[in-house]
Amino acid sequence: MNLESAAAGCSRVLERLDELYALGGGRGANRPYGSAAEDSAHDLAAGWMEEAGLAVERDAAGNLIGRFAGEGAEVWAGSHLDSVPEGGRFDGALGVVAAIEALERVGPRARPLAAVAFRGEEVGCVGSRARCESGRLPGAFLEVHVEQGPRLAAAGAALGVATAIVGYARREVVFDGAAGHAGTTPMDQRDDALVAAAEYVLRVRDVARAIPETVATVGVVEVEPGGVNVVPRRVRLTVDARAPDIGRLERLLAELGLETEPRTEPVALDPGLGSALAAEAAHHGLDVAELPSGAGHDAGILAAAGVPSALLFVRSLAGGVSHSPEEDSSPEDVALAVDVLAATLARLG
Ligand code: HGY
Ligand code: MN
Ligand code: MN
Repeated sequence: MNLESAAAGCSRVLERLDELYALGGGRGANRPYGSAAEDSAHDLAAGWMEEAGLAVERDAAGNLIGRFAGEGAEVWAGSHLDSVPEGGRFDGALGVVAAIEALERVGPRARPLAAVAFRGEEVGCVGSRARCESGRLPGAFLEVHVEQGPRLAAAGAALGVATAIVGYARREVVFDGAAGHAGTTPMDQRDDALVAAAEYVLRVRDVARAIPETVATVGVVEVEPGGVNVVPRRVRLTVDARAPDIGRLERLLAELGLETEPRTEPVALDPGLGSALAAEAAHHGLDVAELPSGAGHDAGILAAAGVPSALLFVRSLAGGVSHSPEEDSSPEDVALAVDVLAATLARLG
């Protein structure tokens, strides 16, 4: 692969990311699970897969798989095309577009190779879980994903290999109070659901701060009836709790008064596949950093289902911000990730 065609390949990756980013309108990426925008993203990716000569299939969960035929256990590469509200340009989409680009470069090999776009990663890895519960699974899975944090930039590393993915759980908490008139209800006679919820949100922050390396977030708060002059009678809020090991995850949930089940357990990624990625990066003169993932990924679901899986992280810029339109990575680092993925797929195929 000469530099010129690698650069051309990368510019096509960036153009495709722009096309995906524009779907759904609004600020940032807006391709929620089950939306027309997620469907359009899958249609775009299916077209790119066909252009690459891949045989396209949609499974029962709506996951998109573009395959080169071959003999033996399949090797998959991919990620997801749904996004959070006002998401970034790279989250999920980069892994799908990079997989298609890499496969087009590598072409058919002895083993079957496939690019995959899973559905609904942001709302609990709906597609990859459904696939693991019901479908034929690959012999190996590689996911290219932006780091979504500051560590690679701090280490001066363009790429990283994730060693493990944290455990996490999401809960809904409801606070019931009593509606009342904002002007005539004395302060000492109120049962204000939003005040109770607000005190809980601060407790979520304080408990997570007290347990090392855990995080907890209240991302959604719904107030009823929602009148400017009405004391709130009901609040529904969500808690996203995460920890690097199951003991701390259970402690975090218990101290927040939440059930410890169901949860997604912390999972180790495959060291052999991680080393294969690192070896290809070394051929490009790159030392890849090893780091745990604070974000959940489809690779974690496949790993938990027994599929050897690896995550190749691309350095996040802008302080590592993600789940925001400010999410950013450089074209050079994206090009390196595609090169390393292609070389690894060629070696595995
Ligand atoms: O929430 C996560 O960790 C991922 O972005 N779905
Ligand atoms: Mn995400
Ligand atoms: Mn993601």
